[in-house]
Amino acid sequence: MEGTAEKTGVGIVDDAGNILSSIGKQLIPESGGIHPREAAEHHAAVIVPLISEALEEAQLELKDIDLIAFARGPGLGPALRTVATAARSLSMRINKPILGVNHCVGHVEIGRLTTGCADPVTLYVSGGNSQVIAFDSGRYQVFGETLDIAAGNMLDQFARQTGLGHPGGPKVENLSKKSDNYIRLPYTVKGMDLAFSGLLTAALRKYEAGVPLEDVCFSLQETAFSMLVEITERAMAHAEKREVLLVGGVAANQRLREMLQIMSDEHYAEFFMPPLEYCGDNGAMIAWTGALAFTHGLRTPVDQSFVRLRWRVDKVDVPWVKQP
Ligand code: ATP
Ligand code: FE2
Repeated sequence: MEGTAEKTGVGIVDDAGNILSSIGKQLIPESGGIHPREAAEHHAAVIVPLISEALEEAQLELKDIDLIAFARGPGLGPALRTVATAARSLSMRINKPILGVNHCVGHVEIGRLTTGCADPVTLYVSGGNSQVIAFDSGRYQVFGETLDIAAGNMLDQFARQTGLGHPGGPKVENLSKKSDNYIRLPYTVKGMDLAFSGLLTAALRKYEAGVPLEDVCFSLQETAFSMLVEITERAMAHAEKREVLLVGGVAANQRLREMLQIMSDEHYAEFFMPPLEYCGDNGAMIAWTGALAFTHGLRTPVDQSFVRLRWRVDKVDVPWVKQP
């Protein structure tokens, strides 16, 4: 069960890595952003029907389930607690164990499962996250990340403030295809980290000054994605990896994929991307990571199953990943 933000996801997998079902339902706010409490209410309202639907799609019954994995963090507190509560009560009802899974590790693991890549540098870009993750010294480590807002959030804010609507990523992408006129915008890479809020402000200023919106959209994408690709490239060289994996909702963007493909080709590396339904938040990624953790001996006793709002990926035990 996934519910770290505004999307509720339920997935069922077997321990051979077959995805038997994965369904989700997203809260779409009428205006503005996501309120943690509204996200929690959304999860509470839809999770039980989603569990039934997922079982139906997998042609299974509750008694066939051996483990209940839930996303324990990082995420919005009320949202996390709602899903954790659902996991605990289902566990009591069917008398099967629960296991808390790290959301970011979930993205990487479903990416490895669905693409077949083994030891990638992962670029995880969504509305809430922008991180470069790779396995090193026994853990997934963060090689670089945003210091302020996530790239998807930046696109969403830009689109909202220029009247393009929500979600912003696809709107900005569509308009950007009508331009190839690059307007200079601030490019902010600090060491291995990124910042997007200055870029957002500068892009809004250009728009207010009368620069055509398609030119601003094009330039915004080119700048933000170059920053993301630059730190991914350096992480790849530093960690000595030969594979690049793109995950998160922003992976839907064709221009970002194209730029990562070019960069990978230049390094004789291979570029991977999961099917789109497994790029964004989904239940299967939590189910599969839970299965990996459980079969490698990890346990989450119910009395220690509290949520972890800021659970960093480098704090997570991943005994199933082996240093190549
Ligand atoms: P997380 O909890 O992992 O942070 P999320 O709640 O942001 O995820 P996702 O579905 O992974 O949910 O990502 C949504 C983001 O992806 C939004 O910011 C949206 O604008 C962005 N996005 C979607 N399609 C595109 C696209 N074609 N180009 C760029 N961004 C996109
Ligand atoms: Fe996510």
